[in-house]
Amino acid sequence: MKRSTLVIVCGLPGSGKTTHAKTVATALDGVRFCPDEEMARQGISLWDEEVRAQIEALQWEEAKSLLSSGQVAIIEWGTWTREERDSLREEARALGAAVELHYLEANGDVLWQRVSARGAENPPIERDDIDRWFQLFEAPSQEEMARYDAIAIVDDPSAAVVAGYNQLASSWGDWADGVSRDLRAIYLDRLEARLSPGSDVLELGCGTGRPVAARLAPTHRYVGVDSSPRMVERAQRNVPAEEFQVADMAAVYVPENSLDAVVAFYSIIHVPRQQQPDLFSRIRSWLRPGGHFVACLTSGDLPEGWEDNWLEGGPMYWSGFDADTNRSLLEEAGFRLDSSEVHAQLEGDTEVHFLWVEAHSALPEQSTN
Ligand SMILES: C[S@@+](CC[C@H](N)C(=O)[O-])C[C@H]1O[C@@H](n2cnc3c(N)ncnc32)[C@H](O)[C@@H]1O
Repeated sequence: MKRSTLVIVCGLPGSGKTTHAKTVATALDGVRFCPDEEMARQGISLWDEEVRAQIEALQWEEAKSLLSSGQVAIIEWGTWTREERDSLREEARALGAAVELHYLEANGDVLWQRVSARGAENPPIERDDIDRWFQLFEAPSQEEMARYDAIAIVDDPSAAVVAGYNQLASSWGDWADGVSRDLRAIYLDRLEARLSPGSDVLELGCGTGRPVAARLAPTHRYVGVDSSPRMVERAQRNVPAEEFQVADMAAVYVPENSLDAVVAFYSIIHVPRQQQPDLFSRIRSWLRPGGHFVACLTSGDLPEGWEDNWLEGGPMYWSGFDADTNRSLLEEAGFRLDSSEVHAQLEGDTEVHFLWVEAHSALPEQSTN
């Protein structure tokens, strides 16, 4: 028989508590307790702290009754203070349960993008709220963690990617110029040949604005999106007349049927691959029929890859599928592939492979076939 276990999922709003708690609930066959979901179900404002406290108290009674009968309970209240976590741990222990702490680390820029894209609060959360919450939040110390039966520190990939590119913003251009057999200019030539002047073009992961914004913006209506605020500052300096937005491509809002082309060089490879099929479908929906998608993606199976100190900018994360799976996912998302080839490039002495794709959004007569 499994031992009763309390899992405390601790982190600020937008840190991914619910996603993580769902994974744990499936893995351990446990029951999740999420006050936000209950409040949304009852139409209660997420700002109502009094009702939130009442719901948490009721949920804690239910959780304790599960723990008493040998079940797994997962609470995702944020548990911002040490005092609150200590009290839950000791009450659960008194019932004979094991207690695990899962701590979701996060970065303020990423939290802000996620909560503003989610838009669940009314009035909306402001950037200042996030800064204030960071002041109130007591991150678990080593000494506290030692008091649990098990701990998990959950790295947030997108937070690491933002922090890494913020760090690399000033050196990125020079590093990228040193890559041999760089194909971006060739694929941009080929895209230009397919576009009429004045086309609507979106770039995902625009980096410093070079080479794509600098090349396409003079002839087309260009918008660049990047999750790193420091990269966007560089882009604004390098290509001042153009529009750039700080946003996570996995959450950014773009109207359907509004674009003639989407370009994504070396950027989708930083999005956790479980989000990539949905991202492909959303890109397809943003494109007008026949609109173009040009990207380089992973060419090998990479559930997740981390490097501790990539280019001396701190931890970096990559993820993606092998070339054939990427081709199938793009077709399932409603794309027709014009070309999809694996090419090697040289980063220093290391040969690295990417899948370069040119695709177009299926025309209505193609999608009914
Ligand atoms: C390898 S750099 C490539 C930059 C540019 N496309 C180029 O070819 O030089 C990857 C860029 O994608 C951005 N990026 C990574 N993940 C992102 C995400 N989820 N949403 C938006 N931008 C992202 C990074 O901040 C970085 O600027």
